[in-house]
Amino acid sequence: MRRGNPLQHPACYIEPRRIAPSTWISHVPFGMYVVSELAPRILVELGTYYGVSYCAFCQAVESAGLPTECYAVDTWQGDRHSGTYGAKVLDDLRTHHDPLYSRFSQLLPMEFDAAAARFEAGSVDLLHIDGCHTYASARNDFEVWLPKLSPRGVVLLHDTQVREGDFGVWQLWAELAPNYPSFEFLHGFGLGVLAIGAESRDRLAPLFEASEIEKAMLVSAFRLLGGRLELVRELGAARRQFEQSQADIESLNASVARLQTKVANLAAREPNHPPGLLRSARRFASGWKAVLRRKLSPPKLRQP
Ligand SMILES: C[S@@+](CC[C@H](N)C(=O)[O-])C[C@H]1O[C@@H](n2cnc3c(N)ncnc32)[C@H](O)[C@@H]1O
Repeated sequence: MRRGNPLQHPACYIEPRRIAPSTWISHVPFGMYVVSELAPRILVELGTYYGVSYCAFCQAVESAGLPTECYAVDTWQGDRHSGTYGAKVLDDLRTHHDPLYSRFSQLLPMEFDAAAARFEAGSVDLLHIDGCHTYASARNDFEVWLPKLSPRGVVLLHDTQVREGDFGVWQLWAELAPNYPSFEFLHGFGLGVLAIGAESRDRLAPLFEASEIEKAMLVSAFRLLGGRLELVRELGAARRQFEQSQADIESLNASVARLQTKVANLAAREPNHPPGLLRSARRFASGWKAVLRRKLSPPKLRQP
């Protein structure tokens, strides 16, 4: 491959700090790379949710010491595809984001269209569109923000591979991709890269000018890099579930022990209890313990 092979860029291998619910996590290696390579002056994300994509961008900015201004726009209320959610999503994001990135990054809780008025025409170098995924919404987001893009402007579009229900980014992608230098990752629901400004074509030439075999290699390699992060997240979730199960077992064991003591005390105080009552109570307690052990024991992980 030619010089500038994206896979040789160290940003692809940065371990992300922000691991949270998201369908975007497998694009983090490319997200980190594209920020480091483009060194955008202004970066805007439309649709941030828990901030997996946005915090990856911010981490890349920080790691490369770039002078980038970053803006995340979201109502943080949800939409028809992500579902509606409460204030805890933004609170959780702020707890992670503010101490690390508020020096150069702002979270803007508002509608995308309203936020556009805050940015000058031709000022945005990198725009990530990941809001509501109907064709009409995605096209509106693209059209409203297109004039804001600079001569270095690059647009990332998420969910280009989802064809179920009323998802329509695939259709927008099919219309836009032939008009600009473009590249599409097929994993993680699809991520399209469009070079809107002439200057961005050179910076991302290793993507746009790759031969078919080089493109296939890039697609596979980023899928593998991203797949690893999905596994890291799943492992973290399984670990947390295991720890919770252990805590539940301990607290239920303590309850059973308390009940057993109570039964023994009652039996001692009531010597005329019906025959077999004490035995049944003990059997009940130990049977219950066995049920708890079976129900709460973590799944056995097979050794590789
Ligand atoms: C798919 S989520 C974003 C996922 C995120 N990029 C990640 O890394 O996981 C889409 C978000 O866009 C927001 N959204 C959708 N349409 C919007 C609009 N018109 N204005 C502001 N926010 C919007 C929703 O609130 C939701 O949080």
